[in-house]
Amino acid sequence: MKDNTFYITTPIYYVNDVPHIGHAYTTVACDSISRYKRLCGYEVCFLTGTDEHGQKIEQAAEKRGITPKQLADEVVERFAGLWKTLNISNDKFVRTTDELHKKAVRKIFNKMKENGDIYIDHYEGWYCTPCETYLTETQLLDGNCCPSCGRETAMLKEPSYFFRMSKYGDTLLKHIEDNPDFVRPQSRRNEIVSFIKDGLRDLSVSRATFKWGIPVPDDEEHVIYVWIDALTNYISALGYGEDGADFEKFWPATYHVVGKDILRFHTVYWPTMLLSAGISLPDAVFAHGWWTVEGQKMSKSLGNAIDPNWLVEKFGVDAIRYFLLREVPFGLDGDFSFKALIHRINGDLANDLGNLLNRTMGMVNRYFDGTVQPYSEAGPEDKALEETIERVFKEVDEHITNMAFNKALMTTWELVSALNKYIDETAPWALAKDEARKARLGSVLYSVLDGLKLVSLLVDSFMPETAMKIRRQLGATQEINVTDAKDLCKIRTFESGHKLGEAEQLFPRIEEKEMLEALKKETDDKKQDDEGEPVVEEIEFAHFEKMVLKAAKVLECEKVKKSDKLLKLQLDLGTEKRQVVSGIAKSYQPADLIGKTLVLVANLKPAKLMGTLSEGMILSATVDGKKHKVLELPDSVEPGTDIK
Ligand code: ME8
Ligand code: MG
Repeated sequence: MKDNTFYITTPIYYVNDVPHIGHAYTTVACDSISRYKRLCGYEVCFLTGTDEHGQKIEQAAEKRGITPKQLADEVVERFAGLWKTLNISNDKFVRTTDELHKKAVRKIFNKMKENGDIYIDHYEGWYCTPCETYLTETQLLDGNCCPSCGRETAMLKEPSYFFRMSKYGDTLLKHIEDNPDFVRPQSRRNEIVSFIKDGLRDLSVSRATFKWGIPVPDDEEHVIYVWIDALTNYISALGYGEDGADFEKFWPATYHVVGKDILRFHTVYWPTMLLSAGISLPDAVFAHGWWTVEGQKMSKSLGNAIDPNWLVEKFGVDAIRYFLLREVPFGLDGDFSFKALIHRINGDLANDLGNLLNRTMGMVNRYFDGTVQPYSEAGPEDKALEETIERVFKEVDEHITNMAFNKALMTTWELVSALNKYIDETAPWALAKDEARKARLGSVLYSVLDGLKLVSLLVDSFMPETAMKIRRQLGATQEINVTDAKDLCKIRTFESGHKLGEAEQLFPRIEEKEMLEALKKETDDKKQDDEGEPVVEEIEFAHFEKMVLKAAKVLECEKVKKSDKLLKLQLDLGTEKRQVVSGIAKSYQPADLIGKTLVLVANLKPAKLMGTLSEGMILSATVDGKKHKVLELPDSVEPGTDIK
């Protein structure tokens, strides 16, 4: 890391999906550390952006009948809008369709080529379009499916440019060994080291099968592989394409923060590209863990990806920021549940912090008409509080710098608890009864107000609005102006003699049961709206294949006795006969069905309905929720024909 600069990046997000809490997580984490480093006097560059090229985006646009650029322009607004809502303080926003970016990509590609690391050949392999990646035979799951997304891959053969990545394996390995903090957290380093030790293969870095990308310099038939394009954003945004001053100032990056899904791209592809182009490597790549929602993987088809805008509307921006960073150690997987969120809000935010501010303001109003008294009389309880403050600031600094955000917040809450304890021990209500203790009473309350101001500095990076609200209520409107983390924790710099601001509740308590019920209703409704129909789980092709569907001709049909819903059908399946009971008696007379060829689920476990054996199920559509329309096949389809 350069002396006083701090450069941090999020991944650039694909524009074929709208932002969800996974994207918000990475971005809020980067925002919090950026804010903290600024507070400590660093010159910070915080970059985020969007990844807009590639087949996946081309296909998503095609599906909607718009151009890829139109799609990108639309979705980029969703991301930029969300970052505003979440109070993200990014200094730069890069789009891979920016001219400056394209220029940088051509430049690095040419540099790699000049150094003899790009050659043309053929590529043949299994390609997963959603993941934009080729897979080896051994990596494939049953049915040639992608091991990471489970979807079917396709065999592709195309002329392609290759990057001599193999050449840099040893250099990269040595770099990782010499720089133990290059891949973080430590637990992820081994997985990368063993991947490199297995031997790096040359990387296919162009595609000739689609158009939406940056053309290979001097060969318009190819576009540059989307990962080569995307990774270059980290330097293009600094003006690498133009020899920009920011590149000089901020590169190498202090941190690339990514989800664990894309760690390999950042710790193998990216550094070898940089080695080839003669550019220095970033200081560190940090991979955080994966969020599930109420125990389930987030996915479009499940419709459970949570819109952070909606969350913010319900719970407020700072509660969400706090929850994301407090709930789970950065680096480990986590689960988002409304219950856990509500517990954090009610416990840590409303009860511990909110009440501390409230009770303190209440006492200053009651005993001193809202005027802040000077610190004029020390007491035996003060020393412990001073020590706690000093320790907490030191530890928070270490934790944030190590990306241990949850620990930074836990430690901050140790100060909150210490202040609550200080009030209980000094018992201002007892001091207030004795006129002779007035100076001590004023000093005690001063200490708590001063402590609260310090808490506001500690939470400033995580919950900027809350920090401002606290300071406004304390009447502490001075600019925070420090040049070093050490200056942050100075005690008793809080002014006195002024009146407190207006009291305001920081975090209203949430009625858990009511809220959970309301949320459930709302999410259910929303799923219906979004999809127009209830959400269904995706199944593997293998699952579907297990179902045997056959053409079945109705030989006989009669009503099941004592039932107004059920018909009993005798079916011809070519090689065998079957009896099936079907709940369609309100829609068909037995005679209507005889002679028709229907669709039968032929391997359903036999069951008895009203005492009558049923060996399968007839497929039908339900109209208006009650009327059945059976699926009919043309007469030319022989009974017993398989349906796929
Ligand atoms: O991979 N839990 O973009 P992407 C935690 N364009 N983090 C999550 C998450 C989850 N469930 N879901 C997404 C790409 N993320 C490429 C990156 S960079 C040169 C190119 C976050 O839109 C996490 O940071 O698929 C993850 O790495 C990123 O979103 C993937 O975003
Ligand atoms: Mg992804």
